[in-house]
Amino acid sequence: MIGAGAREHALVLALSGDPAVTALACAPGNAGTAVLAEQSSVDVTDPVAVAELAGAWSADLVVIGPEVPLVAGAADAVRAAGIACFGPSAGAAQIEGSKAFAKDVMTAAGVSTARSELVDNPGRLDAALGHFEPPWVVKDDRLAAGKGVVVTGDREVARAHALTLLDGGHPVLLESYLDGPEVSLFFLVDSGRTVLPLLPAQDFKRVGDADVGPNTGGMGAYAPLPWAPESLAADVAARIGQPVVDELARRGIPFSGLLYAGLALTTTGPQVIEFNCRFGDPETQVLLALLRTPLAGLLSATATGALARQPPLRWDPGAAVVVVIAAEGYPGTPRTGDVITGAAGKGVLHAGTRRRDDGAIVSAGGRVLSVVGTGVDLAAAREQAYQRVEQVHLLGGHYRSDIGLRATRREDGLSGGG
Ligand code: AMP
Ligand code: GLY
Repeated sequence: MIGAGAREHALVLALSGDPAVTALACAPGNAGTAVLAEQSSVDVTDPVAVAELAGAWSADLVVIGPEVPLVAGAADAVRAAGIACFGPSAGAAQIEGSKAFAKDVMTAAGVSTARSELVDNPGRLDAALGHFEPPWVVKDDRLAAGKGVVVTGDREVARAHALTLLDGGHPVLLESYLDGPEVSLFFLVDSGRTVLPLLPAQDFKRVGDADVGPNTGGMGAYAPLPWAPESLAADVAARIGQPVVDELARRGIPFSGLLYAGLALTTTGPQVIEFNCRFGDPETQVLLALLRTPLAGLLSATATGALARQPPLRWDPGAAVVVVIAAEGYPGTPRTGDVITGAAGKGVLHAGTRRRDDGAIVSAGGRVLSVVGTGVDLAAAREQAYQRVEQVHLLGGHYRSDIGLRATRREDGLSGGG
């Protein structure tokens, strides 16, 4: 396993529960994965280092969690070393690595998405802003850990964000605003052909309760969606997942691994907000809490082109909720080095954590812990998740208290994301 977040802790935990797994290693990992897997440091931006480490560990399968190593070509390097890898090539990872590329693929595949305009020159910005109506959506074209997007009704705020990005040498994408509840739907994709949807989930991007404050990497999630139509996953697989996967294959860059569709369910149907080339964080924490199909076999089948022979996925019939505990300052500059207590509790997954020399677990990043609860329904899962959150102590730590709340009332058509 390559990565160091709560997503990777959840993946390592699920892999450790698959009887087919005889050994597990994780790099660079965190204080949570260290309990379950052999650990090593690695520069995840260096594909050769990742492939060498996989070789040194005699890995049968490498699972790459984050987008940064994928976009850098880690999966290509691992496969070139003769080792099976779960994750797309650098070429296919451009579906996340460049929003302009993703738009081009969607247009060619006939997939619904927001109208957009790429601006790479400040002199063209004002004219381009004039081609859109409020609220304005201004995005960094490149990877920005979920923090490159500003959605605002204030044209000056939109303009200022775009100029900051352009000053930093980043092209800017302006988009029309997509109105409707947000859904994250993940597809396992096998060497550019078979597309297998997981359960739809909902992610909470804004830092504060009631979707107030700046965007983050994700502050919580729940699954399944009690208000969504039963046919949603199959419908989006047919109308969005498969056409995009087919278009990438047609371009000679077949996708393999996990394709993440971030959707807005608009009045005219599902539209794509973004694609990611990897498991979402924190949605993965709830999906894996519900998945009963052994994970290693499933990821291995995906990586080796055997998904078409995979029996239907089995899921727990209940619900899961994850609440992210973030460090003081996040999503700005987080304070680190604070002692965490209660982090060994049930359902607590580590992200930005580190074990100090004296054995104490301390914060070491913005999103510090993911706390997962499950139950027979969403209300029960919420209750367990928040009870577990109460057991954790981190000075200055903050979390949202409304993850999945509106969905417990089945308030169809209301966005819990955004
Ligand atoms: P992204 O990084 O593209 O997923 O954007 C982060 C968040 O910004 C999304 O989850 C949405 O809440 C919001 N957002 C991005 N693009 C749009 C859009 N075109 N319309 C409405 N909201 C958007
Ligand atoms: N949950 C949002 C992401 O993984 O990008």
